[in-house]
Amino acid sequence: MSSVDLFEYQARDLFESYGVPVLAGIIADTPEEAKAAAEKIGGTVVVKAQVKAGGRGKAGGVKVVHNADDAYTAAENILGLDIKGHIVKRVMIAAGARIEKEFYFSVLLDRANRSYLSLCSVEGGMEIEELAVERPEALAKIEVNALRGLDLAKAEEIARAGGFPEELISKVAPVFVKLYEVYKGEDATLVEVNPLVLTADGEIIALDGKVSLDENAGFRHPKHALLEDAAAADPLEAKAKENDLNYVKLDGSVGVIGNGAGLVMSTLDVVAYAGENFGGVKPANFLDIGGGASAEVMAAGLDVILNDAQVKSVFVNVFGGITACDAVAKGIVGALAELGSAANKPLVVRLDGNKVEEGRRILNEANHPLVTLAATMDEGAAKAAELAYAAR
Ligand SMILES: Nc1ncnc2c1ncn2[C@@H]1O[C@H](COP(=O)(O)OP(=O)(O)OP(=O)(O)O)[C@@H](O)[C@H]1O
Ligand SMILES: [Mg+2]
Repeated sequence: MSSVDLFEYQARDLFESYGVPVLAGIIADTPEEAKAAAEKIGGTVVVKAQVKAGGRGKAGGVKVVHNADDAYTAAENILGLDIKGHIVKRVMIAAGARIEKEFYFSVLLDRANRSYLSLCSVEGGMEIEELAVERPEALAKIEVNALRGLDLAKAEEIARAGGFPEELISKVAPVFVKLYEVYKGEDATLVEVNPLVLTADGEIIALDGKVSLDENAGFRHPKHALLEDAAAADPLEAKAKENDLNYVKLDGSVGVIGNGAGLVMSTLDVVAYAGENFGGVKPANFLDIGGGASAEVMAAGLDVILNDAQVKSVFVNVFGGITACDAVAKGIVGALAELGSAANKPLVVRLDGNKVEEGRRILNEANHPLVTLAATMDEGAAKAAELAYAAR
């Protein structure tokens, strides 16, 4: 169910490749690059923060300027800005549009109704959230049948429902059709344009785009991997992803590894509960190594967790099923050998289920100084919390 959100400039490029009308846009990572881009585009340009968060304009992340020197200054001010927890590392210099009117259009996956849904309003722009709350009737919601798709007739129906006057319907409808082609062609879960504008010259242009791509369809789109924002994501999450591990960083100090999402979820609860007796220590992450807990997978998992500076102890909680405990134990021993001195935090291991005796025997024999065996999940969680508390 996961999806990849694109930056505005990536959405712009995608739109362009589908023939959706967009304006020139050049990305810049420094004020110097922003100035050069503004010179290249010429005239009035807009310096726009590239972060995956809404409300950039209201946060000071969108600035209209009339010459290249002002573009330099605007970029200087916007780069480094914190917009809802996202630090701006890149801006886009976009050609300035002479806006007559701002509209809203989107098409998205409507999971609840197992269908597609298009939202549309002749009143778009930065106040769309308020509009949706205060005058929901001004935001049309039209179901789009996935098999029939969004053709010109459907696009006209949507535009009419969104309140567009007759003379604009024939102008915006073909753009809606193209945007749907992006949605369908790229296996997106969301294509949103806000604002779609009418310019003083009478043209319809997508000035801002938001696109989410369905990661599960990634196999059909090898290019999507290039769009993923590995650099801006958490480096530990990126590393986990490289190794196909299911990892989510949290902000506590007890690293957690388990097999199976359900077991790992309950381990988080048990660790948080045990932590109440030890200064309130909390889990540092969610990490599910899945069914095949081989030495390599265990090593990759431990590597991710031990590289988290916030982690003070690790709780490995495994219930042997298809993957038996002896294989998991070998995995842990192998991983510790492989990591060598990089393994430097205490590990509490609780094994149960298939071949538990054999698993325990292997760990006892290895007698690694960092490893403590626990008989139960509660005992293991308490021990791991105690160790994290002692090392704080
Ligand atoms: N290229 C442009 N030329 C002229 N004005 C622009 C341009 N791009 C944006 N604007 C103006 O700035 C406003 C905000 O821009 P934009 O929609 O890109 O950011 P935002 O809506 O604040 O961000 P988000 O969509 O992330 O919430 C637009 O509604 C429009 O009025
Ligand atoms: Mg916008």
